[in-house]
Order: sequence, then structure tokens, then C-alpha cells
Amino acid sequence: DKAQQDALKKAAGIEAAKLVKDGMIVGLGTGSTVRFLVDELGRRVQEEGLQFTGVTTSRRTQEQAEGYGIKIVNVDDVEEIDVTIDGADEVDDNFNGIKGGGAALLWEKIVAINSKKIVWIVDESKVVETIGKFPLPVEVIPFGHGHVVEKMEKKGYKPVLRLDADGNPVLTDEKNYVVDLHLEKIEKPFELQEDLINMVGVVETGLFLNMVDEVIVGDPDGPRILTN
Ligand code: A5P
Repeated sequence: DKAQQDALKKAAGIEAAKLVKDGMIVGLGTGSTVRFLVDELGRRVQEEGLQFTGVTTSRRTQEQAEGYGIKIVNVDDVEEIDVTIDGADEVDDNFNGIKGGGAALLWEKIVAINSKKIVWIVDESKVVETIGKFPLPVEVIPFGHGHVVEKMEKKGYKPVLRLDADGNPVLTDEKNYVVDLHLEKIEKPFELQEDLINMVGVVETGLFLNMVDEVIVGDPDGPRILTN
């Protein structure tokens, strides 16, 4: 259930917080699992005097971190990030994953590729054999998005424009739209990435392929670490 899943997310977040040491530049992801991570880092800042600089992947995470007095700088103001800790929606044995359930995929990918080390924190339910059951988020430019969706439809990608509770398109932090592809199984993720990224109007996809170095899995027996 949800309480059990939250406990696993929290355990993974607390485990990952141990990677953060004084003086580091740390990429902070987005989502409900990262929320636990930032709570723990905030606690250490306030109770233990931990000092580090954060680079955030969404306005939500930035607000939460700044609420704890964590210093946040822009990704362009640092040369390289020591470690980025983020959540994920699915990850397979080959360390290919899907992200963007929270619509933060673009900033997350930008922060990730500028990091020396990438760590994901997930509960055990997200470790899968084949990715794709979780609908793949794709960030698209609003202008002409209807045609992009139509072209995806023709390719058999089963696109659904993501809407909020009022029926308006969800906007990313870059004010773009998100289209979720209901693929069920992604057998050739690298080919899919190539195809999608070459569509005019597509900004980025939630496919994070063999980018992650370490996955901390919240498991009922305690957090376990998968190393790439
Ligand atoms: C945000 O856009 C996503 O990439 C999140 O990292 C991902 O959806 C995981 O979120 P949860 O920790 O809330 O499951």
C-alpha cells in the first residue's frame, strides 16, 4: 500500500543523503522520493551544520530546499556537479529508465548530463524487466503540438497529451507540454529515443538510457544498491 511504499521511498532517500558531504555540489531531482531526500538533507543542514550547494531540477524542489536554508545555484553557475540524486519511474537491468512522471524530465536530464555521478532512489516496485508499462513522458513545444501528437499516433506510439485537473495541458517549468506514450513495452529504447528526438517540436524524452551509475532500491529488507 501507499504507506509501505512511502516507507521504502523514505529509506532510499535517507540512504542516498549519506552520499552528500561538506563542500559538495549536489544535483537535487524531483518527485515524492526526492522529497524525503531533501527533508533528510535539510535536517542535516539544520542539526549537523552540513554545508553543500544544491542545483535543483524543478521549482518545487528549489522551494523545498530553500525552505531548509540549503544554498541553491543555477546549473550554469557551476562547472560540474559532484553527484545528482533523483527519482525514477522505472528502471531495468541494463540501467535504462523512464523519468518525467512529475513533468521535470528536461531539467532533470540537463542536470544529470552535467554530473560526475548519477544516483537514483526508487522503491522496489520500479525495478522492472522491460520498461514501458509506465507511460513514457515526452516534452513538446506547444506550437504545433497537435501535429506532433498526430504523427506519434500514426507511428503507433499511443500518445496522450497530459492534462491537469481542470482539463488544461500540464505545463513544464519551461512552459512546454508533456505527451505520455502508452507503449506497454519498450524493446528498443535507443532506437525509440533517436526517432522521438528527431521529431520537430519534441524537446526531450523521459528515456534516461544507461546514464545512471547507482540505483538505491528501497526494499522491505532495507535499501540495496545496484551498481552500473
Ligand atoms: C519527475 O519528473 C520524475 O522524473 C521523477 O523523478 C519521477 O517521476 C519519480 O517520482 P516519484 O519519486 O514521485 O515516484
